[in-house]
Amino acid sequence: MHTVAVLSLKGGVGKTTVALGLASAALRRGVRTLVIDLDPQCNATSTLEPGETSGSICDVLEDPTPDNVRAAIAPSSWGESVDVLAGSEDAEALNHPDPGETRLGRLREALALLADDYQLVLLDCPPSLGQLTRSALVAADRALLVTEPTMFAVAGVQRAFEAVQAERAHNAGLQPLGVVVNRVRPRSHEHQFRIEELRDIFGPLVMPVALPDRLAVQQAQGACMPIHEWGTPGAREVALAFNLLLARILRMSRSRRRPAHPDFDDEEIQEAIEA
Ligand SMILES: Nc1ncnc2c1ncn2[C@@H]1O[C@H](COP(=O)(O)OP(=O)(O)OP(=O)(O)O)[C@@H](O)[C@H]1O
Ligand SMILES: [Mg+2]
Repeated sequence: MHTVAVLSLKGGVGKTTVALGLASAALRRGVRTLVIDLDPQCNATSTLEPGETSGSICDVLEDPTPDNVRAAIAPSSWGESVDVLAGSEDAEALNHPDPGETRLGRLREALALLADDYQLVLLDCPPSLGQLTRSALVAADRALLVTEPTMFAVAGVQRAFEAVQAERAHNAGLQPLGVVVNRVRPRSHEHQFRIEELRDIFGPLVMPVALPDRLAVQQAQGACMPIHEWGTPGAREVALAFNLLLARILRMSRSRRRPAHPDFDDEEIQEAIEA
């Protein structure tokens, strides 16, 4: 089971979009996936429209019994291979700034119960560093940092990277998977400048595929549909980028010791195009 926390400490940069895009790519590839909505805004839950659950992330974070974990999970409306562990507005009350080891370990306990059920777990984090995001970092084996190519977002991703490094004290297996740059406009000099700045700071951790700024992303989300099913040229472009990202995640998580390489190899590109 590959467990990926999707985070940034800045709001609105595309964490949920990345979690949903990867879920869409996973659906296309038939990868059994669970999306865990840790954000009290519940954007991922609303877009994936899971069936009714009798529990939510709150019950799991308070007491991760097998019954509570099962009661919080339902199939998404997207397709058979994507399930949702439902978010809740009440999770805000559980976002302790200094939660302590026991609270931080509960999500990890819950995921241990699901190890045989899913190939991929995507944790959509809120834009803050309290119990919710930190629980994801304790439960995950990989952290995917999301940023836009703007000055404030670059500062946010640096803080997120520091948070990942700090959490390794509680989860020695946690590795930064990379930094994905979202909403890129290739002709913008400012964007190109910020991407260079990110490469200076993070080197090969900056993912070689960037996600373009396309209206199709908002349209597909508005219609609660996977980007792979939206069908416009913009949607196809974004979908291909998510195929590449997913291929990289599955491959890097498989070979944990393999260092991140800035370029995609031929096999990854072929897999992404065929998906
Ligand atoms: N590549 C993109 N192209 C166009 N619009 C995008 C793109 N990525 C994100 N958006 C839009 O930007 C807005 C914010 O994205 P999203 O909700 O994914 O960010 P977030 O980081 O999860 O926000 P929050 O911090 O509130 O959880 C949404 O309306 C989304 O549709
Ligand atoms: Mg979000």
